[in-house]
Amino acid sequence: MQKYNIAVIAGDGIGIEVTASALEVLRAVQQKVGGFELIYDELDYGSARYKAQGSYAPKGWLDHLRSSDAIYFGAVGDPDVPDHISLWELILPMRQVFQQYVNVRPSSILPGIPSRVAGSAPGDLDWVIIRENTEGEYAGQGGRTHVGTEHEVATELAVFTRKGVERVMRYAFETAQKRPKKFLTVVSKSNAQRYGLLLWDEVAGLVSKDYPDVEWDKMLVDAMTVRMVSKPKSLDTIVTTNLHGDILSDLAAALSGSIGIAHSSSLDPSRKSPSLFEPVHGAAFDIMGKDLANPIAAIMSAAEMIRFLGEEKAAAVIESACRESIAEGQTTGDLGGKLKTTEVTKVVCDIISRS
Ligand code: NAI
Ligand code: MG
Repeated sequence: MQKYNIAVIAGDGIGIEVTASALEVLRAVQQKVGGFELIYDELDYGSARYKAQGSYAPKGWLDHLRSSDAIYFGAVGDPDVPDHISLWELILPMRQVFQQYVNVRPSSILPGIPSRVAGSAPGDLDWVIIRENTEGEYAGQGGRTHVGTEHEVATELAVFTRKGVERVMRYAFETAQKRPKKFLTVVSKSNAQRYGLLLWDEVAGLVSKDYPDVEWDKMLVDAMTVRMVSKPKSLDTIVTTNLHGDILSDLAAALSGSIGIAHSSSLDPSRKSPSLFEPVHGAAFDIMGKDLANPIAAIMSAAEMIRFLGEEKAAAVIESACRESIAEGQTTGDLGGKLKTTEVTKVVCDIISRS
Protein backbone atom coordinates (compact mmCIF):
# COMPACT_ATOMS: atom_id res chain seq x y z
CA MET A 1 0.00 0.00 0.00
CA GLN A 2 1.47 3.31 -1.12
CA LYS A 3 1.08 5.99 1.57
CA TYR A 4 1.22 9.74 1.05
CA ASN A 5 1.38 12.48 3.68
CA ILE A 6 -0.80 15.38 2.67
CA ALA A 7 -0.71 18.73 4.46
CA VAL A 8 -4.20 20.20 4.25
CA ILE A 9 -4.69 23.95 4.64
CA ALA A 10 -8.38 24.65 4.09
CA GLY A 11 -7.79 28.31 4.95
CA ASP A 12 -10.67 30.76 4.75
CA GLY A 13 -14.15 31.38 3.37
CA ILE A 14 -15.31 28.91 0.74
CA GLY A 15 -11.82 27.37 0.90
CA ILE A 16 -13.07 25.54 3.99
CA GLU A 17 -16.23 24.31 2.27
CA VAL A 18 -14.62 23.13 -0.96
CA THR A 19 -11.72 21.48 0.84
CA ALA A 20 -14.23 19.37 2.76
CA SER A 21 -15.71 18.36 -0.62
CA ALA A 22 -12.31 17.49 -2.08
CA LEU A 23 -11.41 15.31 0.90
CA GLU A 24 -14.74 13.51 0.69
CA VAL A 25 -14.18 12.75 -2.99
CA LEU A 26 -10.62 11.58 -2.27
CA ARG A 27 -11.99 9.20 0.35
CA ALA A 28 -14.48 7.82 -2.19
CA VAL A 29 -11.85 7.27 -4.87
CA GLN A 30 -9.41 5.74 -2.40
CA GLN A 31 -12.06 3.21 -1.50
CA LYS A 32 -13.00 2.57 -5.11
CA VAL A 33 -9.57 2.29 -6.69
CA GLY A 34 -7.50 1.12 -3.72
CA GLY A 35 -3.76 0.57 -3.54
CA PHE A 36 -2.94 3.88 -1.90
CA GLU A 37 -3.61 5.73 1.32
CA LEU A 38 -3.66 9.47 1.93
CA ILE A 39 -2.68 10.51 5.44
CA TYR A 40 -3.91 14.01 6.23
CA ASP A 41 -2.26 16.60 8.40
CA GLU A 42 -5.12 19.10 8.73
CA LEU A 43 -3.70 22.49 9.68
CA ASP A 44 -5.52 25.52 11.08
CA TYR A 45 -3.41 28.07 9.16
CA GLY A 46 -5.58 30.98 8.07
CA SER A 47 -7.24 34.26 8.91
CA ALA A 48 -9.16 32.97 11.95
CA ARG A 49 -5.86 31.97 13.51
CA TYR A 50 -4.38 35.36 12.57
CA LYS A 51 -7.26 37.21 14.19
CA ALA A 52 -7.08 35.13 17.36
CA GLN A 53 -3.33 34.62 17.74
CA GLY A 54 -1.65 37.25 15.55
CA SER A 55 -0.12 34.93 12.96
CA TYR A 56 -1.39 32.93 10.01
CA ALA A 57 0.72 29.92 10.93
CA PRO A 58 2.91 28.86 13.82
CA LYS A 59 6.68 29.45 13.87
CA GLY A 60 8.53 26.91 11.75
CA TRP A 61 5.47 26.18 9.58
CA LEU A 62 7.39 26.06 6.32
CA ASP A 63 9.79 23.48 7.77
CA HIS A 64 6.81 21.52 9.00
CA LEU A 65 5.22 21.52 5.54
CA ARG A 66 8.47 20.54 3.86
CA SER A 67 8.16 16.97 5.16
CA SER A 68 4.82 16.40 3.43
CA ASP A 69 4.44 14.74 0.02
CA ALA A 70 2.03 17.44 -1.18
CA ILE A 71 0.10 20.43 0.10
CA TYR A 72 -3.62 20.75 -0.52
CA PHE A 73 -4.84 24.33 -0.21
CA GLY A 74 -8.36 25.82 -0.13
CA ALA A 75 -8.20 29.63 -0.21
CA VAL A 76 -7.07 32.54 1.90
CA GLY A 77 -8.69 35.93 2.40
CA ASP A 78 -10.83 37.58 5.03
CA PRO A 79 -13.07 40.65 4.93
CA ASP A 80 -11.34 41.97 8.08
CA VAL A 81 -7.76 41.50 6.86
CA PRO A 82 -6.15 43.50 4.02
CA ASP A 83 -5.59 41.15 1.06
CA HIS A 84 -1.88 41.92 0.73
CA ILE A 85 -1.38 40.67 4.28
CA SER A 86 -3.28 37.41 3.93
CA LEU A 87 -1.67 36.58 0.57
CA TRP A 88 1.86 37.36 1.70
CA GLU A 89 1.44 35.59 5.05
CA LEU A 90 0.29 32.30 3.65
CA ILE A 91 0.19 31.47 -0.04
CA LEU A 92 3.04 33.47 -1.58
CA PRO A 93 5.74 32.31 0.89
CA MET A 94 4.92 28.68 0.08
CA ARG A 95 5.29 29.26 -3.67
CA GLN A 96 8.63 31.02 -3.17
CA VAL A 97 10.24 28.95 -0.41
CA PHE A 98 9.30 25.65 -2.03
CA GLN A 99 10.36 26.92 -5.47
CA GLN A 100 6.99 26.03 -6.94
CA TYR A 101 8.01 27.82 -10.08
CA VAL A 102 5.29 26.61 -12.39
CA ASN A 103 1.63 27.23 -11.87
CA VAL A 104 -0.37 25.03 -14.21
CA ARG A 105 -3.90 26.18 -15.01
CA PRO A 106 -5.81 24.09 -17.54
CA SER A 107 -9.15 25.21 -18.93
CA SER A 108 -11.56 23.73 -21.40
CA ILE A 109 -15.21 24.02 -22.32
CA LEU A 110 -16.78 20.88 -20.92
CA PRO A 111 -19.92 19.26 -22.34
CA GLY A 112 -22.92 20.62 -20.45
CA ILE A 113 -21.52 24.10 -19.91
CA PRO A 114 -22.97 26.86 -22.04
CA SER A 115 -20.00 28.49 -23.75
CA ARG A 116 -19.15 32.09 -22.98
CA VAL A 117 -17.32 32.45 -26.31
CA ALA A 118 -19.53 33.17 -29.30
CA GLY A 119 -19.77 30.18 -31.61
CA SER A 120 -17.63 27.90 -29.46
CA ALA A 121 -18.44 24.33 -28.62
CA PRO A 122 -16.71 21.84 -26.30
CA GLY A 123 -13.25 21.18 -27.73
CA ASP A 124 -12.88 24.65 -29.24
CA LEU A 125 -11.27 25.95 -26.08
CA ASP A 126 -8.73 23.57 -24.60
CA TRP A 127 -5.80 25.40 -23.07
CA VAL A 128 -3.09 24.89 -20.51
CA ILE A 129 -1.75 28.12 -19.06
CA ILE A 130 1.72 27.84 -17.55
CA ARG A 131 2.25 30.79 -15.24
CA GLU A 132 5.65 31.66 -13.82
CA ASN A 133 5.09 31.43 -10.09
CA THR A 134 8.08 32.62 -8.07
CA GLU A 135 9.38 35.88 -9.52
CA GLY A 136 8.31 38.48 -12.10
CA GLU A 137 5.88 41.09 -10.88
CA TYR A 138 5.19 39.14 -7.64
CA ALA A 139 8.81 38.87 -6.56
CA GLY A 140 7.99 40.91 -3.49
CA GLN A 141 10.64 43.58 -3.95
CA GLY A 142 9.81 47.23 -3.54
CA GLY A 143 9.08 49.77 -0.88
CA ARG A 144 7.44 52.98 0.18
CA THR A 145 9.08 56.13 1.41
CA HIS A 146 7.81 59.61 2.38
CA VAL A 147 4.65 57.81 3.39
CA GLY A 148 1.59 60.01 3.64
CA THR A 149 3.31 63.08 2.21
CA GLU A 150 2.80 64.59 -1.21
CA HIS A 151 6.25 63.25 -2.13
CA GLU A 152 5.33 59.66 -1.34
CA VAL A 153 7.11 57.09 -3.53
CA ALA A 154 6.12 53.47 -4.00
CA THR A 155 8.07 50.99 -6.09
CA GLU A 156 7.11 47.48 -7.10
CA LEU A 157 10.03 45.79 -8.74
CA ALA A 158 9.47 43.06 -11.31
CA VAL A 159 12.34 40.58 -11.19
CA PHE A 160 13.28 38.28 -14.06
CA THR A 161 16.28 35.99 -13.79
CA ARG A 162 17.70 33.99 -16.68
CA LYS A 163 17.47 30.84 -14.57
CA GLY A 164 13.91 31.58 -13.49
CA VAL A 165 12.73 32.29 -17.03
CA GLU A 166 14.57 29.35 -18.55
CA ARG A 167 13.13 26.76 -16.18
CA VAL A 168 9.52 27.82 -16.71
CA MET A 169 10.08 28.01 -20.50
CA ARG A 170 11.43 24.47 -20.51
CA TYR A 171 8.43 23.26 -18.56
CA ALA A 172 6.11 25.04 -21.03
CA PHE A 173 7.81 23.62 -24.13
CA GLU A 174 7.71 20.14 -22.55
CA THR A 175 4.01 20.54 -21.75
CA ALA A 176 3.28 21.67 -25.31
CA GLN A 177 5.32 18.76 -26.67
CA LYS A 178 3.17 16.25 -24.77
CA ARG A 179 -0.10 17.69 -26.10
CA PRO A 180 -1.49 16.70 -29.51
CA LYS A 181 -1.20 20.17 -31.08
CA LYS A 182 2.42 20.69 -29.93
CA PHE A 183 1.82 24.41 -30.01
CA LEU A 184 2.99 27.05 -27.53
CA THR A 185 2.19 30.74 -27.27
CA VAL A 186 4.69 32.85 -25.32
CA VAL A 187 3.02 35.91 -23.80
CA SER A 188 4.81 39.05 -22.67
CA LYS A 189 4.76 42.83 -22.97
CA SER A 190 8.23 43.34 -24.31
CA ASN A 191 7.33 46.39 -26.34
CA ALA A 192 6.78 48.48 -23.21
CA GLN A 193 8.85 46.54 -20.65
CA ARG A 194 12.15 46.36 -22.43
CA TYR A 195 14.41 44.68 -19.87
CA GLY A 196 12.80 41.84 -17.97
CA LEU A 197 10.34 40.93 -20.68
CA LEU A 198 12.90 41.21 -23.42
CA LEU A 199 14.91 38.63 -21.47
CA TRP A 200 11.71 36.58 -21.28
CA ASP A 201 11.31 36.64 -25.08
CA GLU A 202 14.99 35.98 -25.75
CA VAL A 203 15.12 32.99 -23.44
CA ALA A 204 11.98 31.61 -25.11
CA GLY A 205 13.82 31.76 -28.44
CA LEU A 206 16.86 29.97 -27.05
CA VAL A 207 14.89 27.25 -25.27
CA SER A 208 12.72 26.66 -28.37
CA LYS A 209 15.78 25.33 -30.21
CA ASP A 210 15.74 22.27 -27.91
CA TYR A 211 12.14 21.50 -28.90
CA PRO A 212 12.17 21.56 -32.72
CA ASP A 213 8.89 19.64 -32.92
CA VAL A 214 7.02 22.33 -30.96
CA GLU A 215 5.62 25.17 -33.04
CA TRP A 216 5.43 28.46 -31.12
CA ASP A 217 4.47 32.08 -31.45
CA LYS A 218 4.67 35.25 -29.39
CA MET A 219 1.88 37.54 -28.23
CA LEU A 220 1.74 40.81 -26.34
CA VAL A 221 -0.55 40.37 -23.36
CA ASP A 222 -3.10 43.00 -24.41
CA ALA A 223 -3.59 41.47 -27.86
CA MET A 224 -3.66 38.07 -26.19
CA THR A 225 -6.90 38.91 -24.35
CA VAL A 226 -8.52 39.64 -27.73
CA ARG A 227 -7.23 36.41 -29.27
CA MET A 228 -8.50 34.37 -26.31
CA VAL A 229 -11.99 35.70 -26.84
CA SER A 230 -12.11 35.86 -30.63
CA LYS A 231 -9.98 32.89 -31.74
CA PRO A 232 -9.89 30.39 -28.87
CA LYS A 233 -9.12 27.50 -31.22
CA SER A 234 -5.87 29.13 -32.29
CA LEU A 235 -4.37 28.59 -28.81
CA ASP A 236 -3.21 25.51 -26.94
CA THR A 237 -0.36 25.78 -24.41
CA ILE A 238 0.38 29.27 -23.11
CA VAL A 239 3.31 30.50 -21.01
CA THR A 240 3.10 33.82 -19.19
CA THR A 241 4.66 35.83 -16.39
CA ASN A 242 3.32 35.77 -12.85
CA LEU A 243 1.00 38.80 -13.14
CA HIS A 244 -0.10 38.17 -16.72
CA GLY A 245 -0.76 34.52 -15.90
CA ASP A 246 -2.87 35.50 -12.92
CA ILE A 247 -5.07 37.70 -15.08
CA LEU A 248 -5.22 35.55 -18.22
CA SER A 249 -6.12 32.44 -16.23
CA ASP A 250 -9.10 34.18 -14.62
CA LEU A 251 -10.20 35.20 -18.12
CA ALA A 252 -9.69 31.62 -19.30
CA ALA A 253 -11.78 30.38 -16.38
CA ALA A 254 -14.60 32.77 -17.18
CA LEU A 255 -14.51 31.90 -20.90
CA SER A 256 -14.65 28.20 -20.16
CA GLY A 257 -17.68 28.55 -17.91
CA SER A 258 -16.88 29.58 -14.35
CA ILE A 259 -14.03 30.24 -11.97
CA GLY A 260 -15.73 27.54 -9.88
CA ILE A 261 -14.24 24.82 -12.11
CA ALA A 262 -10.74 26.30 -12.54
CA HIS A 263 -8.08 24.25 -10.81
CA SER A 264 -4.37 24.78 -10.46
CA SER A 265 -1.11 23.16 -9.44
CA SER A 266 1.91 25.05 -8.11
CA LEU A 267 4.73 22.67 -8.90
CA ASP A 268 8.33 22.19 -8.00
CA PRO A 269 9.06 19.90 -10.95
CA SER A 270 12.39 18.88 -9.36
CA ARG A 271 10.33 17.37 -6.50
CA LYS A 272 12.85 18.62 -3.92
CA SER A 273 10.00 20.41 -2.10
CA PRO A 274 6.30 19.62 -1.87
CA SER A 275 4.04 20.94 -4.61
CA LEU A 276 0.75 22.65 -3.87
CA PHE A 277 -2.68 22.08 -5.34
CA GLU A 278 -5.55 24.57 -5.08
CA PRO A 279 -8.56 25.97 -6.86
CA VAL A 280 -7.87 29.22 -8.74
CA HIS A 281 -10.61 31.08 -6.89
CA GLY A 282 -10.30 32.83 -3.55
CA ALA A 283 -12.35 32.93 -0.36
CA ALA A 284 -15.45 34.36 -2.17
CA PHE A 285 -16.88 36.52 0.61
CA ASP A 286 -20.18 36.97 -1.22
CA ILE A 287 -21.08 33.27 -1.06
CA MET A 288 -19.06 31.90 1.86
CA GLY A 289 -20.82 29.88 4.53
CA LYS A 290 -23.88 29.39 2.32
CA ASP A 291 -23.13 26.00 0.75
CA LEU A 292 -23.23 27.69 -2.68
CA ALA A 293 -19.62 27.36 -3.86
CA ASN A 294 -18.88 25.14 -6.79
CA PRO A 295 -16.61 22.41 -5.40
CA ILE A 296 -15.44 21.15 -8.82
CA ALA A 297 -12.31 23.35 -8.97
CA ALA A 298 -11.23 22.03 -5.58
CA ILE A 299 -12.06 18.44 -6.50
CA MET A 300 -10.14 18.68 -9.80
CA SER A 301 -7.18 20.17 -7.89
CA ALA A 302 -7.25 17.09 -5.66
CA ALA A 303 -7.21 14.90 -8.79
CA GLU A 304 -4.14 16.75 -10.09
CA MET A 305 -2.50 16.24 -6.70
CA ILE A 306 -2.85 12.47 -6.73
CA ARG A 307 -1.80 12.37 -10.40
CA PHE A 308 1.39 14.23 -9.48
CA LEU A 309 1.95 11.68 -6.70
CA GLY A 310 1.62 8.84 -9.22
CA GLU A 311 -2.02 7.75 -8.82
CA GLU A 312 -3.04 8.31 -12.44
CA LYS A 313 -5.95 5.88 -12.40
CA ALA A 314 -7.61 7.44 -9.36
CA ALA A 315 -7.06 10.93 -10.80
CA ALA A 316 -8.76 9.93 -14.04
CA VAL A 317 -11.71 8.44 -12.13
CA ILE A 318 -12.24 11.75 -10.30
CA GLU A 319 -12.01 13.82 -13.47
CA SER A 320 -14.42 11.67 -15.35
CA ALA A 321 -16.90 11.82 -12.45
CA CYS A 322 -16.65 15.63 -12.43
CA ARG A 323 -17.24 15.76 -16.19
CA GLU A 324 -20.21 13.43 -15.89
CA SER A 325 -21.83 15.48 -13.13
CA ILE A 326 -21.48 18.62 -15.27
CA ALA A 327 -22.76 16.91 -18.43
CA GLU A 328 -25.82 15.78 -16.45
CA GLY A 329 -26.44 19.38 -15.35
CA GLN A 330 -25.88 18.47 -11.70
CA THR A 331 -24.18 21.76 -10.94
CA THR A 332 -24.12 24.74 -8.62
CA GLY A 333 -25.59 28.13 -9.53
CA ASP A 334 -22.47 29.52 -11.23
CA LEU A 335 -22.96 26.88 -13.97
CA GLY A 336 -26.69 27.40 -14.10
CA GLY A 337 -27.66 24.53 -11.79
CA LYS A 338 -29.60 24.43 -8.55
CA LEU A 339 -27.44 22.19 -6.38
CA LYS A 340 -25.59 23.09 -3.21
CA THR A 341 -21.87 22.48 -2.65
CA THR A 342 -22.58 19.41 -0.55
CA GLU A 343 -25.06 18.04 -3.11
CA VAL A 344 -22.59 18.30 -6.01
CA THR A 345 -20.02 16.60 -3.79
CA LYS A 346 -22.43 13.74 -3.14
CA VAL A 347 -23.22 13.41 -6.86
CA VAL A 348 -19.50 13.14 -7.69
CA CYS A 349 -18.92 10.59 -4.88
CA ASP A 350 -21.91 8.52 -6.05
CA ILE A 351 -20.68 8.48 -9.64
CA ILE A 352 -17.28 7.30 -8.39
CA SER A 353 -18.75 4.53 -6.22
CA ARG A 354 -20.84 3.12 -9.03
CA SER A 355 -18.16 3.57 -11.74
P1 NAI B 1 -12.84 35.13 -5.49
O1 NAI B 1 -12.26 34.12 -6.41
O2 NAI B 1 -12.86 34.78 -4.06
O3 NAI B 1 -14.33 35.49 -5.98
C1 NAI B 1 -14.58 36.13 -7.22
C2 NAI B 1 -16.03 35.86 -7.66
O4 NAI B 1 -16.14 34.50 -8.11
C3 NAI B 1 -17.04 36.00 -6.52
O5 NAI B 1 -18.21 36.56 -7.02
C4 NAI B 1 -17.27 34.57 -6.08
O6 NAI B 1 -18.54 34.34 -5.52
C5 NAI B 1 -17.09 33.80 -7.37
N1 NAI B 1 -16.57 32.46 -7.07
C6 NAI B 1 -15.31 32.17 -6.67
N2 NAI B 1 -15.19 30.86 -6.45
C7 NAI B 1 -16.38 30.29 -6.71
C8 NAI B 1 -16.89 28.97 -6.65
N3 NAI B 1 -16.12 27.92 -6.27
N4 NAI B 1 -18.18 28.76 -6.97
C9 NAI B 1 -18.96 29.77 -7.36
N5 NAI B 1 -18.55 31.05 -7.44
C10 NAI B 1 -17.28 31.33 -7.11
O7 NAI B 1 -11.99 36.47 -5.70
P2 NAI B 1 -12.08 37.87 -4.92
O8 NAI B 1 -13.50 38.19 -4.61
O9 NAI B 1 -11.27 38.79 -5.72
O10 NAI B 1 -11.28 37.62 -3.57
C11 NAI B 1 -11.87 37.29 -2.31
C12 NAI B 1 -10.72 37.01 -1.35
O11 NAI B 1 -10.00 35.85 -1.76
C13 NAI B 1 -9.69 38.14 -1.25
O12 NAI B 1 -9.25 38.20 0.08
C14 NAI B 1 -8.56 37.68 -2.14
O13 NAI B 1 -7.30 38.20 -1.81
C15 NAI B 1 -8.62 36.18 -1.89
N6 NAI B 1 -8.05 35.36 -2.97
C16 NAI B 1 -7.31 34.28 -2.58
C17 NAI B 1 -6.79 33.44 -3.51
C18 NAI B 1 -6.06 32.23 -3.03
O14 NAI B 1 -6.22 31.83 -1.90
N7 NAI B 1 -5.26 31.60 -3.84
C19 NAI B 1 -7.01 33.65 -4.94
C20 NAI B 1 -7.86 34.77 -5.25
C21 NAI B 1 -8.34 35.60 -4.28
MG1 MG C 1 -5.92 35.23 -9.27
